[in-house]
Amino acid sequence: MFKVEKIKSGIPGLDELLYGGIPKRNIVLLSGGPGTGKTIFGQQYLYYGLQHGEPGVLVALEEHPVQIRRNMASFGWDVKKYEEEGMFAIVDAFTGGYGEAAKRERYVVRSVDDMTEFLDVVKEAIKDLKAERVVIDSVSTLYLTRPSVARAILMQLKRVLAGLGATSILVSQVSVTERGFGGPGVEHAVDGIIRLDLDEVGGELIRSLIIWKMRGTKHDMRRHPFEITDRGIVVQHNRVVRIRGDRVTFEEVKPE
Ligand SMILES: Nc1ncnc2c1ncn2[C@@H]1O[C@H](COP(=O)(O)OP(=O)(O)OP(=O)(O)O)[C@@H](O)[C@H]1O
Ligand SMILES: [Mg+2]
Repeated sequence: MFKVEKIKSGIPGLDELLYGGIPKRNIVLLSGGPGTGKTIFGQQYLYYGLQHGEPGVLVALEEHPVQIRRNMASFGWDVKKYEEEGMFAIVDAFTGGYGEAAKRERYVVRSVDDMTEFLDVVKEAIKDLKAERVVIDSVSTLYLTRPSVARAILMQLKRVLAGLGATSILVSQVSVTERGFGGPGVEHAVDGIIRLDLDEVGGELIRSLIIWKMRGTKHDMRRHPFEITDRGIVVQHNRVVRIRGDRVTFEEVKPE
């Protein structure tokens, strides 16, 4: 039987829910509201790859590359060595090339409104590094001001990423109250959707995640609690959480 090749997310507890990991070349939408852990998830995914010999590219649209390196280091994910070895690169699509620090960046997108330039720089970085893992944080930034072209942008991006053989995480921002994952065109175009949530229950915030879809594999269908620790995200794959109004219940489960 044909066996789908997978790559490990490297997020403790999550690969159990994915029956081993993310099918290779999949484009996964990681969607969630503010502060749900999307950025940390993406960085953890990339760093795990680096530790296992898989080059990675982080496309930064939301934060300054300097801040990203600092933030990663605070979790113990020091990428400096990997950048020097040509295993890791940040594509700076944040500064537009302005500022002293930005001048030291190797991959800079001058204008994110210019999709051709954006894709060229991303392509160059992936090719130079032979990147196997790519994270775009966030893809919403590319089409926030022009929702009508969201799907077209996503399809272009998908061709580039899958064409170069990368397994990618596209961070998608949704508002606190939104039920969806980032718009209809986008949700159907991607191969997988993992949703991170933060719910206020009785005055306390509860973190949980659910795998909504993942082409190419079986996956767990239940909502699992997770934590963010000093070492990153840890998913409780043997516990599920139910949130009903002002009540939250946890239940121990066997993996599916
Ligand atoms: N060392 C830590 N230990 C525990 N929790 C942390 C730690 N560092 C950050 N956090 C939590 O992670 C949250 C930030 O996560 P992250 O930056 O990944 O969110 P995000 O989903 O990318 O949000 P946004 O959409 O606003 O960019 C913080 O609000 C905090 O709750
Ligand atoms: Mg973020």
